[in-house]
Amino acid sequence: MSSIPKEVAARGPFLERIEGGAGEAGQAIDERLVAITQPMGAAAEQYRILLHRLRHMRALRGEAIQGGAVIAATSSVRGEGVSVTAANLALTAARARDARVALVDCDLRRGGLAQLFGMGARPGLAEVLTGKTEIGEALGRYPEGHLAVIPAGRVPGAESASLLAGPRFAQTLGLLRTLFDEIYLDVPPALATADSSVVAHKADGIVLVVRAGTTPREQVAGAVRSLAGAPIWGMVLNGVDPARVPAPLPVVKGHLTAGK
Ligand SMILES: Nc1ncnc2c1ncn2[C@@H]1O[C@H](COP(=O)(O)OP(=O)(O)O)[C@@H](O)[C@H]1O
Ligand SMILES: [Mg+2]
Repeated sequence: MSSIPKEVAARGPFLERIEGGAGEAGQAIDERLVAITQPMGAAAEQYRILLHRLRHMRALRGEAIQGGAVIAATSSVRGEGVSVTAANLALTAARARDARVALVDCDLRRGGLAQLFGMGARPGLAEVLTGKTEIGEALGRYPEGHLAVIPAGRVPGAESASLLAGPRFAQTLGLLRTLFDEIYLDVPPALATADSSVVAHKADGIVLVVRAGTTPREQVAGAVRSLAGAPIWGMVLNGVDPARVPAPLPVVKGHLTAGK
């Protein structure tokens, strides 16, 4: 992978490109993308809180992070909500201010972002890492929220860790840091594969997603151990039953009452 293609770079600071992407006229948006579908709901507010905590963590690191910040979301096992969290976090970031935000599906074995964003089959990170596609071709723009999404693409499963450990992935992240202010990575679970720890060590910060009421404590501890040395910025307790926790903000008829 050499660099961003000229025709893509010429489009300015934000890459405007997607063919057949979700969010286009007439296409239904997946209801799990609550940052878009229910922006005034309590869940969307939680993603805003998470985003501002992460931005605070980044600010504390100051000059230690050069260019766009790379934040990886992972978990201990599958199904804890990493993809839903990463997608909503990235959408929230892209909507919150005039930030250039990218979301990259690093789950080369079972990536789900293409489906979540209704992007259909198109080249993604796998094709970039195997040298079949330039990064500009893999970047799709999600019109709702001005987010750039790189889906996982297709790769034989066994190769994924070595591809993510290779020089092309490091170069890709380096290029994304120059093009975007924030880069969110959807990363496979830490206990199942080597991929997670390979990617985690390349990120500035890691968000560990834990499924409320399901993930055993020891499993979370195991995931933390397997990420040893990587910068875990915090955890997200996902899927909490709202009836079991005090409301963090006043909620009236399902809508947040800002400022009251
Ligand atoms: N907060 C949540 N509330 C309800 N369902 C959720 C929540 N987070 C995730 N899910 C659902 O759980 C399943 C697994 O989520 P996903 O993000 O794909 O997990 P992972 O990427 O960690 O494997 C999906 O069906 C998703 O819609
Ligand atoms: Mg996933």
